[in-house]
Amino acid sequence: MESIKWISDYVKKYKLTFVFAMLLVLVDSALNMVNPYFSGVIVDSVIQKNNKKILIPILLTMILVTVIKSFVKYFYQFSFEKISQNSIYEIRNQMFTKLQALDSQFYSENRTGDLMSRMTGDMESVRHFLSWVIYNVFENLSIFIFSVGFMFYINWKFALIMIATTPLVGYLAFKMTLEVGPTFYNIREQLSKLNTIVQENISGNRVVKSFAKEDFEIEKFTKENKGFYKANIESAAVWEKYLPILDSLAGFFLVEMTFFGGILVIKNMMSLGDLVVFNSLIWAINNPMRMAGWLINDIERFIAGSKKIRMLLMTEPKIKNNKDMLSIEKIKGEIQFNNVRFSFKGKDILKDITFKVKPGQTLGIIGPTGSGKSTLINLLERFYDTTSGEILLDGKKIKDYDYRIVRDNIAVAMQDVFLFSDTVKQNISYGTKFSEEHHVFETAKAACAHEFISKMSDGYETIVGERGVGLSGGQKQRIALARAIIKNTPILVLDDTTSALDMETEYEIQKNLKAICKEKTCIIIANRISSVKNADIIIVLKDGIMEEIGKHEQLLLNKNYYYNVYLNQWGDFDLNIKKEVI
Ligand SMILES: Nc1ncnc2c1ncn2[C@@H]1O[C@H](COP(=O)(O)OP(=O)(O)O)[C@@H](O)[C@H]1O
Ligand SMILES: [Mg+2]
Repeated sequence: MESIKWISDYVKKYKLTFVFAMLLVLVDSALNMVNPYFSGVIVDSVIQKNNKKILIPILLTMILVTVIKSFVKYFYQFSFEKISQNSIYEIRNQMFTKLQALDSQFYSENRTGDLMSRMTGDMESVRHFLSWVIYNVFENLSIFIFSVGFMFYINWKFALIMIATTPLVGYLAFKMTLEVGPTFYNIREQLSKLNTIVQENISGNRVVKSFAKEDFEIEKFTKENKGFYKANIESAAVWEKYLPILDSLAGFFLVEMTFFGGILVIKNMMSLGDLVVFNSLIWAINNPMRMAGWLINDIERFIAGSKKIRMLLMTEPKIKNNKDMLSIEKIKGEIQFNNVRFSFKGKDILKDITFKVKPGQTLGIIGPTGSGKSTLINLLERFYDTTSGEILLDGKKIKDYDYRIVRDNIAVAMQDVFLFSDTVKQNISYGTKFSEEHHVFETAKAACAHEFISKMSDGYETIVGERGVGLSGGQKQRIALARAIIKNTPILVLDDTTSALDMETEYEIQKNLKAICKEKTCIIIANRISSVKNADIIIVLKDGIMEEIGKHEQLLLNKNYYYNVYLNQWGDFDLNIKKEVI
């Protein structure tokens, strides 16, 4: 019922078309009574009473009715298709907009394959419901009611005998609804699992191939494929159980009619023409019974699909804007963390993080993998909210800003580079509204990307495939770096952006960054001392805790983690040479 209520909100906008189409269905159903009626007249008046004059007009009317019916059918079918497509268009847009609004936590909890199923398979079940199921239910019902009414009009006793079986059909249909519903939900879940496996397999095809895990993947797929197959068979077992009964009841009708109708005609209690009318109307009762099973299936499919869509549309992002937000659009770039703690599922990922970076300063963050460096940036970008403590931007709480403004003021070159299937130029200028070509070139030069891009077959117009297949890790990193730089924001964050680069290129980039970072707040996350040594403040993170904080020279004196990394990275050099090089 909730699904019907939900979908009617969309259909409401096309109320007039809907009512008009429904009326046409009604007209069509009523027209269905005309030809059976005339069949009776032909038998009674033309054949039995030899009234040949009226035969031609009757036949012409019957043809005309058939033609009109086709037109009427065309109009309402088209109307329903239009209502359906319009509604689906709107729902699809809403879903995609919702996907944009949902936060990192949602994406870490939901699988791509499942989300794709909602956008495709579940949508299809809704479309089918709107464009086909609704009018078929209405059509079958109205034809049934008209026929029964007509039968009662002709001979109520015979009609009574004929419809005596229908409550049984109703009961069976109801029982089937109860049983078949859950099986469709199961089918839907299995399909989503199957989609997830296929999607992950395609995205991760390189990993699969390089580990020669094709057989393992096939096995994994086969398991889910079997699950999907089983879910379908189980569902079929339910409805296959009912359909033959419903079908035989329909057959039984014919026998019932011939038997009782014959008796009535022999006893002169009914004319032969009336029996012919009953005979032609029998399909009008049979058909809805036959269709009932299929329609129930489709309705259940719609309910299962729409439930998933509704769940997505109702999901609320955890990161939300306060009611009275600051109306600041551009920030200066002062970042302050006050006793920030962030825990996930009861485990502390960051603890007691306190530091302050002024506009124009550069903050370096160094620490082992998993120490919480990227998480710190996620908090700054408000992908997650702090568990306790505060983050201030320009002295004001980050939660008081519009989170989109916060993100608008921060450019991040992320650790896992994702490039769109688009040209290099488009990928670089993704975050900017206007980007002139020479500007893209300059930025690419600063990111040491211009040279290799120019050497590519189509230069800046080269399409970098899905996930930038065809580019080396270092090349992808440099495009991501250019994408962040060109955004020209007060805060620039580079999360391990130069890890895949050779020392020489990294040195070159650092030189360029020095100039860029003079005018903004920069956060450089790295594993190499050389990347952070010039920073105004360096934080050493270990297991989510700030082990050390200070400038390069201070940290060396601490003789702690930083000093050890320093020794490891420059260990083969004499200390004096080290000083010169660094
Ligand atoms: N979305 C997440 N869900 C659960 N745990 C996470 C998530 N992101 C990161 N973590 C955990 O947080 C810790 C810090 O991760 P991260 O910030 O990525 O470290 P770093 O960037 O320093 O390598 C790790 O132990 C990691 O397992
Ligand atoms: Mg990281």
